[in-house]
Amino acid sequence: MLAALGMASSRGRVSSDSQRKLAQVKGMLPWLLRALRFTRHASPTAIEFGCGKAYLGFFLAQAVRDARERPIAILGVDPNAELVRRCQRARNILGWPEMDFRVATCETFAVAHPPALVCALHVCDVVTDQVIGAGIDMGAERIIVAPCCHSSYQRRLREAGHRHEWGYIARCFPLLGSRFSEFVTEAMRCLALRSCGYEVQVREFVSGTTTPKNTVIVASFTGKLSERALSELHRIEEMTGLESEVRCSLDRRRAALGRA
Ligand SMILES: C[S@@+](CC[C@H](N)C(=O)[O-])C[C@H]1O[C@@H](n2cnc3c(N)ncnc32)[C@H](O)[C@@H]1O
Repeated sequence: MLAALGMASSRGRVSSDSQRKLAQVKGMLPWLLRALRFTRHASPTAIEFGCGKAYLGFFLAQAVRDARERPIAILGVDPNAELVRRCQRARNILGWPEMDFRVATCETFAVAHPPALVCALHVCDVVTDQVIGAGIDMGAERIIVAPCCHSSYQRRLREAGHRHEWGYIARCFPLLGSRFSEFVTEAMRCLALRSCGYEVQVREFVSGTTTPKNTVIVASFTGKLSERALSELHRIEEMTGLESEVRCSLDRRRAALGRA
């Protein structure tokens, strides 16, 4: 499989970049497998947004095959048509019909039925919010994302510096601004998910020496909407001058579930 994915040379040598990516993918797998093992879906579908070369999807397919678990349809979605063609070629070489790929973004991709799992590994900046929003909109049973950078939140926090003490501090001390915007961004994502009826955990999925971006947000739908999470989200927005990028999906989902 490593050769089909272009992660190993013809002599089986895996570059240090690929080894780092492998460690990340292997760290994510237990979370995805646990989500799929306990799904209530009879024919589960897992969607990987921003799949790129779809290492995560391919390793998931391999793990499901190895464990001889019930078949799972795995769909990789990415706006980059060249990467999608590359994934399709790898799928054909491996002969794995349970995998498929689409050229689309999180915003343009639509499904007929709620998926068992929506996941993403290191999609940049607000695309992580778009993945979470798409998962909420689709009514995904589980949403599992490992966020990447937080640059647009960081910039917006600094820009709000003339109105908010946190933004002022972020402008004076950029390193603190970077750490604080990461904390606030992940907190807003978790609160948005909880307010829409997801139980949420935040964990490390790989050692911090492999990548500093080693946080995973694991959300499981329970249907229990949280008013407290919604009001905490509002308070963070007021305190920082930031607005949650998940807000539109959150408002739509809560309205559909009968809450304003
Ligand atoms: C940093 S790469 C990560 C790829 C892969 N998940 C990995 O870990 O190797 C981010 C990917 O997100 C895709 N992307 C960018 N904007 C997107 C959007 N709005 N919706 C879905 N995917 C997007 C890019 O084309 C790119 O392949």
